[in-house]
Amino acid sequence: MRVVVLVSGTGSLLQALLNASVDPDYGVQVVAVGADRAGIEALARAERSGVPTFIERVGDYPNRQLWDAALAARVAQFQPDLVISAGFLKLVGHDFLVAFGDRFINTHPSLLPAFPGAHPVRDALAYGNTVTGATVFFVDAGTDTGPIIEQRAVSIQPQDTEASLHERIKQVEREMLVEVVGRLARQSWTITGRNVTLR
Ligand code: GAR
Repeated sequence: MRVVVLVSGTGSLLQALLNASVDPDYGVQVVAVGADRAGIEALARAERSGVPTFIERVGDYPNRQLWDAALAARVAQFQPDLVISAGFLKLVGHDFLVAFGDRFINTHPSLLPAFPGAHPVRDALAYGNTVTGATVFFVDAGTDTGPIIEQRAVSIQPQDTEASLHERIKQVEREMLVEVVGRLARQSWTITGRNVTLR
């Protein structure tokens, strides 16, 4: 399965996918890594693995729609079977979803539909939750609202900070993302309403 990974930051999720894809039995080839900004560790990780990279900055386009269309065209050049948002901190728009809507997944550090948006770890702590986690889902036009593929829970400890909790979530998230992407590579999937079925 040809995979394009979109990133904005550290890229530890990307690294987990790159590590797993070294094994031919995993069935996944990361064919490109795209970012919305330069100078991030995630792009350096891709380059160290010899994976082609590209950058599409929103600010380089007159408006968001043109950026979205350019991003979709750039990703399409790599003919991916699956596109993964792995810490990509931008919402895509209409053109991107038309091109990749049934094969674009995201991972989010909360148990959706709790705490969508930009600060899910901080929000779970502030709410006083004792459990949070991570969700892998197919992206739709909403913010973190798409059909859920898998979720895993993480306990919140009284002494947790946003950083310590996020790091524990990311440990679970890396394992879950690698497993889900492996399953998507080996099985076909259908999305019916909110239900995702793998066969
Ligand atoms: C992950 O926790 C991912 O779920 C989150 O950014 C982190 C990326 O970590 N994404 C979002 O919050 C998107 N809403 P990484 O850069 O170390 O892979």
